[in-house]
Amino acid sequence: MSATLLTGIGELVTCDEAWGGGPASSADAALGILRNAALVIEGTRVAWLGPAASAPAADTRIDLGGRAVVPGFVDSHTHLVFAGERSAEFAARMAGEPYTGGGIMTTVAATRAASTDDLRAHTRRLLAEMTASGTTTVEIKSGYGLTAEDERRLLEIAREFTPETTYLGAHVVPAEYANERAAYVGLVTGEMLRACAPLARWIDVFCDEGAFDEAETRRILSAGIAAGLLPRLHGNQLAPGPGARLAAECGAASLDHCVHLTDADVHALRDAHVVATLLPGADFCTRGPYPDARRLLDAGVTVALATDCNPGTAYITSMPLCIALAVREMRMSPAEALLAATLGGARALRRDDLGRIAEGASADFAVLDAPTHLHLAYRPGAPIVAATWKAGERPKRERALV
Ligand code: NIG
Ligand code: FE
Repeated sequence: MSATLLTGIGELVTCDEAWGGGPASSADAALGILRNAALVIEGTRVAWLGPAASAPAADTRIDLGGRAVVPGFVDSHTHLVFAGERSAEFAARMAGEPYTGGGIMTTVAATRAASTDDLRAHTRRLLAEMTASGTTTVEIKSGYGLTAEDERRLLEIAREFTPETTYLGAHVVPAEYANERAAYVGLVTGEMLRACAPLARWIDVFCDEGAFDEAETRRILSAGIAAGLLPRLHGNQLAPGPGARLAAECGAASLDHCVHLTDADVHALRDAHVVATLLPGADFCTRGPYPDARRLLDAGVTVALATDCNPGTAYITSMPLCIALAVREMRMSPAEALLAATLGGARALRRDDLGRIAEGASADFAVLDAPTHLHLAYRPGAPIVAATWKAGERPKRERALV
């Protein structure tokens, strides 16, 4: 197997405490920063890392000229497979309209009407944007089909791009079931689940005001778990509610949004080891309040950051933007935000092989056009990622023109 040596790394952020000893706070130490470092890749894995001066010989040598290298971002919450766009809804929100989730049916109609080839091409295009901004792992939910056939179709497409697929038949009750909620829950836990479970790793429910209530959510998650899926949950985005309690009760990997939490919710998440996935892009684009990240971190909850990429609340593919928002708007330190975007995302997906740069881990990382990871938050909007490596290779970054 041929080996590639990357050297001239001004700052190598490993997210591996074994390399800790960084300055000041424990989040800084947890970044495990090595300066003047080198990295050897063999096949899809990291084979060696350490000081450049003691790097072993390799078949190919690439000098990164003092740039910083960080683990590839793990975007653990997206709704990438959809058709159409909702810019008019965004403009209305910027003029003062609240977000209610009502626009989801607009996207459902466009998605049902789209061809599979068009949906696939659009998903690929969004993934190309993500790769260009340093993302190496993406979770993709269904949720814009809301029939057994359409939900399955979205998961088939998602599956072509990632093993981290999530069945979200319980996104909203579609218009045609408006007066028959129980029948829709029956579909989601019956025929639709049977069609989708073989294509998904996870089950998710939008448990919030205007979406699914506590009893419905419990029933849907239980059915998914019985079908072999792992639970995760949208909750506490629009209003206080049962999301955090349910996430803890059913052993969810993650509760996503977390804007409206009580102290008891925070403690329940911590005690049940549920990752709190924060989606500042959604709060930014809905002009909603941000979650209290400091309260979660100070209580000892593991925090992840993700884009929530979707056409309604967050048409965002950039994890560096989410890091910048987390630092500026949610008072996370740059170290906390970078950890949440890498290791935190890996924990939210229960993946030990991702989110850090370590011997034996997948060779997934982003080379920054910057001397330090601080530039992720310090230069918002700049094309800060010079190169993205996924499983030991540089994926093609050309944008699909379809
Ligand atoms: O995570 N909150 C529910 N679902 C998405 C929004 C979906 C939409 O508006 O199309 C979210 O924000
Ligand atoms: Fe979402």
